[in-house]
Amino acid sequence: MTRASEGGLARPIGFIDSGVGGLTVLHECLVSLPGEDFLYLGDSDYFPYGTKTVDELRERVGIVTSFLLERGVKMLVVACNSATATAGEEIARIAAGAGVPVVTVIGPESEIAATITETGRVGVLATPATVSSGAYRAALDRLGRPLTVTEVAAPDLAPLIQEGSPFDEGVMDMVRSYCEPLKRAEIDTLVLGCTHYPLVAPMLQRLLGRDVRLVTAGHAIAAAVQRTLAADGSLSTERQEGDYRFLVTGDLDSFVEVGTRFLQLPLAGRIESVSVER
Ligand code: DGL
Repeated sequence: MTRASEGGLARPIGFIDSGVGGLTVLHECLVSLPGEDFLYLGDSDYFPYGTKTVDELRERVGIVTSFLLERGVKMLVVACNSATATAGEEIARIAAGAGVPVVTVIGPESEIAATITETGRVGVLATPATVSSGAYRAALDRLGRPLTVTEVAAPDLAPLIQEGSPFDEGVMDMVRSYCEPLKRAEIDTLVLGCTHYPLVAPMLQRLLGRDVRLVTAGHAIAAAVQRTLAADGSLSTERQEGDYRFLVTGDLDSFVEVGTRFLQLPLAGRIESVSVER
């Protein structure tokens, strides 16, 4: 039995993504911080974020952030690159107003990539919103190591993963076309710049070859969450397994089906349909 099944979530750690992609980050946190409670908001009614404009995303992500803060989360993990890239400052401002610390993607995986690349040729595969924001280029530049960065926007990849479509030959051809400029650039390190993409890491590895290292955010995010909570004095001291729950703005059945497959933990019975409007 979990604590929550005995009497509701303690102050959980909140997660935001447009869909199931952030589950790749949640997974790492569930493993690293088993005594914590987690509340994940999947804004699937507004999916995809990655092809929306900066203005649209700032407005929507601001609303979603406020909604989750009202649920009493003790920390916010922005498990979405498109949201971080376009609305990171807005999220930080709103969360600061509520006194809630925020951990985001982009910075951590940029640091890992800049550290592990041997040739200095780094690729970034991300949504159009993330690529056109220039957020990865800026994060990699800040690290002060001379790098050759090749960014590829993949408008159709996150939708395909979100739908849970079968990975047929057509999908392979599409992913192959996203990989071509990365192969031409002879990268040795690829940042998976969308939290949906670790879910197709085996396919990317097959197409790019063993010598290209794939970098994801999850591990580093879990470490950052732990550090931030410890510094705050709000790390759970519970030894009993914590709980995890979901708030979803779109279709519940497909979220449960695809999410359960990817998280490899049950979602059914832990999920609530919510309408998030201003
Ligand atoms: N998982 C998201 C990201 O990291 C968003 C995908 C989308 O909604 O387009 O960018």
